[in-house]
Amino acid sequence: MSVEFCGLELVHPIINASGTFDAIAAGRAFGEELIERFPFAAFVSKTVTLQPRQGNPPPRLWELAGGLINSIGLPNQGLRGYLQHDLPELARLPVPLIVNVMGSSRDQVAELVAAFGERAEVAALELNVSCPNVETGLLMGADPAEIAALLDRVRPLTSKPLIVKLTPNATDVPAVARAAQGAGADAVSLINTLRGMALDPRTGRPWLGGVTGGVSGAAVRAVALAQVHAVAQAVEIPIVGMGGVASGADALDLMRAGATLVAVGTESFRDPAAGLRVASELAELAANSAV
Ligand SMILES: Cc1cc2nc3c(=O)[nH]c(=O)nc-3n(C[C@H](O)[C@H](O)[C@H](O)COP(=O)(O)O)c2cc1C
Repeated sequence: MSVEFCGLELVHPIINASGTFDAIAAGRAFGEELIERFPFAAFVSKTVTLQPRQGNPPPRLWELAGGLINSIGLPNQGLRGYLQHDLPELARLPVPLIVNVMGSSRDQVAELVAAFGERAEVAALELNVSCPNVETGLLMGADPAEIAALLDRVRPLTSKPLIVKLTPNATDVPAVARAAQGAGADAVSLINTLRGMALDPRTGRPWLGGVTGGVSGAAVRAVALAQVHAVAQAVEIPIVGMGGVASGADALDLMRAGATLVAVGTESFRDPAAGLRVASELAELAANSAV
């Protein structure tokens, strides 16, 4: 099941979705066992921003019949805290490290890309573009021209692979993917969460502290499949598919739709070893069918 992805040799095609597996907390809970049987072929960090963020006020989660709505709000220690505390711990993982970054201006993203670009511990960068550009007011990942301008700014800053994480909350996702490819992205990943909302049944008011949140899990699987399929028709660069993957069959579907790698997200909350299970189910299915 080994696979080559942007110059990285991975032992299988299953990685984690950003923000859904805390390798440092899991390492404290499971110790060396986690390192020996790490569930993913590469580790994607949660989103790192330039400055520390508290995240959104609670409540931050709403459980759906088929998944979750989260309004976590990207809490993190910021670039300096990440370099000091998280990076040395994550560098111990037995798999390549992909750092996910987000900024609210091109300059902010550029500073993050330049800082991680020079770190030997970092194998690749994922750009989370589900954020408005404060300078233009446009969601960076929803507009082909915004994405092209962002890549023009950051592409010269690193020779490490750049993966653009597309938002599904865009009118024409394949057009954004094409613009990313045209401006030098090495890969695209999708889908990020879909905007959703829940009301407190007692008060009728928004349940989540952030009012709206991101829908993930089984509820978004069909959307992910359609978007990966559409993007695969539009670009030649590799695709990381994600959205509701809970089994090897789900992963195989995304690969048949055009994904080279598949990320497991929400399912890891239910089963922290889901990555390993999905990879072994996928290997069994692939042995019996043409992927
Ligand atoms: C609790 C939670 C936190 C997340 N945090 C991030 C994040 O920090 N950065 C990011 O790019 N995506 C984040 N995501 C989105 C996931 O990486 C993934 O794109 C999405 O959840 C779809 O996959 P899934 O249905 O398998 O969860 C988060 C999702 C969840 C549920």
